[in-house]
Amino acid sequence: MKQWIALTALAVFTTGAYAQAFPGSKPVTFVVPFAAGGPTDRVARDLAEAMRKFVPGGNFVVENTAGAGGTIAATKVAKANPDGHTLLVWHIGMAATPALYRKIQYKPLEDFEYLGMINEVPMTLVGKPQLPANTYRDFENYIRANAGKLNIAHAGLGSASHICGLLWQSTLQSKDAMTTIPFGGTAPAMTALMGGQVDVMCDQTTNTTAQIEAGRIKAFAVTTAKPLSGHPVLRHYPSLQEMGLKGFDLTIWHGLYAPKGTPAAVLQTLNEGLKKALKDPEFIKKQEGLGAVVVTDKRVEPAEHKKFVAAEMTKIKAAVDAAGKYAD
Ligand code: MLT
Repeated sequence: MKQWIALTALAVFTTGAYAQAFPGSKPVTFVVPFAAGGPTDRVARDLAEAMRKFVPGGNFVVENTAGAGGTIAATKVAKANPDGHTLLVWHIGMAATPALYRKIQYKPLEDFEYLGMINEVPMTLVGKPQLPANTYRDFENYIRANAGKLNIAHAGLGSASHICGLLWQSTLQSKDAMTTIPFGGTAPAMTALMGGQVDVMCDQTTNTTAQIEAGRIKAFAVTTAKPLSGHPVLRHYPSLQEMGLKGFDLTIWHGLYAPKGTPAAVLQTLNEGLKKALKDPEFIKKQEGLGAVVVTDKRVEPAEHKKFVAAEMTKIKAAVDAAGKYAD
């Protein structure tokens, strides 16, 4: 009798019937590699709300696992049970951290199933409200005049805010310009910036737009090649390229990942749910209100998502190597 049950269980699992039961009663957890309230957390929570509509029975929840620039969370998901209930929402850090950590506990291109890209988010160079500068020119001159006296916040080595600060400081060609202050995410870093405990930060518009509009922080430039002329708040700021930083063009993409070995039918259910969520008018409105652009191109396909990340790994390594003397 026991043998019959074992064979039936095997058949159910292998025929994908298990996958048809997915997600079942167990929540689907989006692991976010940074503190709650930050830009990555915001993308994950908005996406979870949208996917609940399009994955029948999908109880999507968010869990914040901060630390080490996001690599602790990535390791956790890479090693999680590949049943589709533990997923990773992460950004450019998936491609940047291999260039910045001597040893990471996972292989970005081998240890994950790629579920598709989510969005692309511009960044803003922002300062504490007390900073005696109002234009980018004033800001840059102030930084140079106070080399070694100011600090810049980020969310850990390999975080988007770290990468942006690294690339921007390398254009200042003054290694001692600023001390870097790491946080568990740019939500706590933003609190410190608004309170004047840190001087500068480069952060995603999903986290800075509301604070800029409320006058709680100062903004000086955006990191996209062109200014965000279509955005009611962000259109007031030049791009760093316009300010003379040749070729500076940084946008933070976000993707969705499952552990390697997750059943194909489960991956298909999740990818189909993602594609519908990315077309959800409510999700799009929320994201665009914060300056983000929802992905609508072929990178929503897993294979194209993976190809894109592989290319980004090469591109970011070259950029980090070039700016590396500013990495700390
Ligand atoms: C980053 O700087 O990598 C993220 O914006 C941090 C966060 O999402 O809190």
